[in-house]
Amino acid sequence: MTVDVYPTRDSVIEKEIKDKVVVVVDVLRATSTIITALYNGCKEVIPVMDIEEAMVMTKNYERDAFLLGGERNAVKIEGFDLSNSPLEYTRDKVEGNTIIFTTTNGTKAIKQAGDAKKVLIGSIINADALCGALLDLDADVAFVCAGTEGRFSLDDIIAVGAIISRLKSKGAQLSLDDLAMVCLYLYESNKSSLHDILKDTYHYKRLLEEGFTDDLKYCLTPNRAPIVPMYKDGVIKNIY
Ligand code: MLT
Repeated sequence: MTVDVYPTRDSVIEKEIKDKVVVVVDVLRATSTIITALYNGCKEVIPVMDIEEAMVMTKNYERDAFLLGGERNAVKIEGFDLSNSPLEYTRDKVEGNTIIFTTTNGTKAIKQAGDAKKVLIGSIINADALCGALLDLDADVAFVCAGTEGRFSLDDIIAVGAIISRLKSKGAQLSLDDLAMVCLYLYESNKSSLHDILKDTYHYKRLLEEGFTDDLKYCLTPNRAPIVPMYKDGVIKNIY
């Protein structure tokens, strides 16, 4: 299994991912939130590029059949039902609902990876389940990190490392590109203290400043939501 890592969505070379299983990672917080929503019984998540597209999408649904979720500058969008905090996506709020979702980086990365053979949604909270799915699929893998505002984000690199580390410990024969090697090395050298390596990074600090301490703890805890969502035909659903 070859494993390539793209540090930002803009670095993706479309023809390279076409025949691969792509895992999109935005550990802080978009993919963690999507996984949590589906784990808590939401019907589907529809990622959209921006607020205008979200509003157009709402016209396809009765008002009580969808929730609008997402963020700009890490906080809830005016008029939306939910922010991008995974802890808001509780079963009592999301069960049976469609969630129309837009975030600054994560939802764009998912849509951009849409032409790959398969697009899975990854984070630390589903690391073991995702590892199982990748082993079952036994295909070449490309991780697409959402990054933050077009720039490389260390949290995503660590999360990719967590998934590669699990593949390795399950005995997968891996051929890693250089960035995949960096991800694995950084994760394995810091796995007992992920908050320590991330605490001075841009996005982690920003979320702390906004008071999202519990989100940070949740998003960096393995296997809180052991499912594997897949993006297909514009919609994200749970496949495992
Ligand atoms: C994003 O997609 O840009 C992030 O998930 C931002 C956030 O943490 O709210």
